[in-house]
Amino acid sequence: MSALTDLYEEIERCQDCELGKHRTRVVPGEGPEKTSILFIGEAPGWHEDQQGRPFVGPAGKYLEELLASIKLKREQVYIANVIKCRPPSNRDPLPGEIQACSKWLKDQIEIIRPKMIVTLGRYSMAKYFPNQSISQVHGKARKQDDIIYYAMYHPAAALHQGSLRKIIETDMLKIPQILAQAEKLTEAEAEPQQLSLF
Ligand code: URA
Repeated sequence: MSALTDLYEEIERCQDCELGKHRTRVVPGEGPEKTSILFIGEAPGWHEDQQGRPFVGPAGKYLEELLASIKLKREQVYIANVIKCRPPSNRDPLPGEIQACSKWLKDQIEIIRPKMIVTLGRYSMAKYFPNQSISQVHGKARKQDDIIYYAMYHPAAALHQGSLRKIIETDMLKIPQILAQAEKLTEAEAEPQQLSLF
């Protein structure tokens, strides 16, 4: 058993908020335990709730196309959500639900130790870019401690709002270069706690 599979068993038993009563399946997240990039979406939708896997509906198909544009397959990255259970009728997650679920994401990050966390949409962005708006921070990287945080629009938003497509596609294309630069930043890492890359 890997650390992640042990964690999935714990998440599957979770009843720490009301969402546990309504779910069909928990959607803990999926991907390799050793990977450089962790993508964090919002919450499972209908398809994810049925299958117990993140990003398997239309937004997931688009995310796979975006990953392909930087020569990555979904199996090579870790994909998680802020919330592990589907909110009824896909409503927005409530602050108490986000709070109750945050321990699982924290554990996932500790196990995976990604070099880069890419937030998809405003709920995951709010965790790492508090009090900022996505229109200002998308496509910009910020390094804190050992992790680069990078905000993108949610793929579902880009599917519904055509004007965001070009933006999300351009932001995705910047990821390989940011990762490559991160590898070179080892001296800078020792000094400031926060470092703006772009
Ligand atoms: N949207 C998300 O934020 N997460 C999913 O898993 C699916 C759609």
